[in-house]
Amino acid sequence: MTTVLKTDALSKIYGSAGKGVVYKALEHISLEIGRGEFTGIMGPSGSGKTTLLNLLATIDKPTSGHIEINGTDPAGLNNKQLALFRRRELGFVFQDFNLLETLSIKENIILPLVLEGTKPSEIERRVAEIAEVLGITPILSKRTYEVSGGQQQRTAIARAIIHRPSLLLADELTGNLDSKAAKDVMESLRGLNEEREVTILMVTHDPFAASYCKRVLFIKDGKLFSEIRRGANRQAFFQQILDTLSVLGGNFDELPTARP
Ligand SMILES: Nc1ncnc2c1ncn2[C@@H]1O[C@H](COP(=O)(O)OP(=O)(O)O)[C@@H](O)[C@H]1O
Ligand SMILES: [Mg+2]
Repeated sequence: MTTVLKTDALSKIYGSAGKGVVYKALEHISLEIGRGEFTGIMGPSGSGKTTLLNLLATIDKPTSGHIEINGTDPAGLNNKQLALFRRRELGFVFQDFNLLETLSIKENIILPLVLEGTKPSEIERRVAEIAEVLGITPILSKRTYEVSGGQQQRTAIARAIIHRPSLLLADELTGNLDSKAAKDVMESLRGLNEEREVTILMVTHDPFAASYCKRVLFIKDGKLFSEIRRGANRQAFFQQILDTLSVLGGNFDELPTARP
């Protein structure tokens, strides 16, 4: 298995020791993600999920410990190199779709390739391919406000992976979607993972969304708590996730009711 992401004893402390106000948001997180994995991260509110994602996204820096993404430790890069590294190696999807309203769906998707100076014929080929996989071919010429939330999120996913990053990072990507749209989006992600070997790491509150992962890591109070892997049956995994969450305790601000 080729390793895409590795963290070694990653810790993050907020605040300044000098002022006596420190908060250990993450403690000694060591994990490894291989190419083609589809991993979820769950944990109660305040457990450190967003902190972890920000470190992996190279948006924030760890207090101690190391990160390696596709063989490179981002800590060794200057700001300019880091921006380029992030743009090439990573793709991001957020709860808010963050699409540009002045552009069409297609123009939104191809933006990363335009920035890279990719040849127009190659851009056309890739956008056609990716739109097909995500089921958004019929809406390519529409504006963002003319399509549904689920279609907007699938557009955001297409934009996040069109440059073929090593890793797709997602933070609560179903958070703004109704259950039907959430299902469509998760099935699209599963297709990308299974058929295109897209490596995905997603943070989610939602056990339904998490049940599409092949593996789910649970964090509590900034530490890795446990890990479960999916067998053949997604419904059974959904139940296993609910059971683990109830053992984990804590507060889940928007834990939805069951809808497998
Ligand atoms: N910039 C910050 N400064 C100080 N404390 C922070 C900051 N960001 C997050 N925290 C604290 O770190 C802990 C983990 O936060 P976060 O990573 O946002 O958790 P989650 O995403 O799991 O809800 C929380 O207690 C939060 O209050
Ligand atoms: Mg968070």
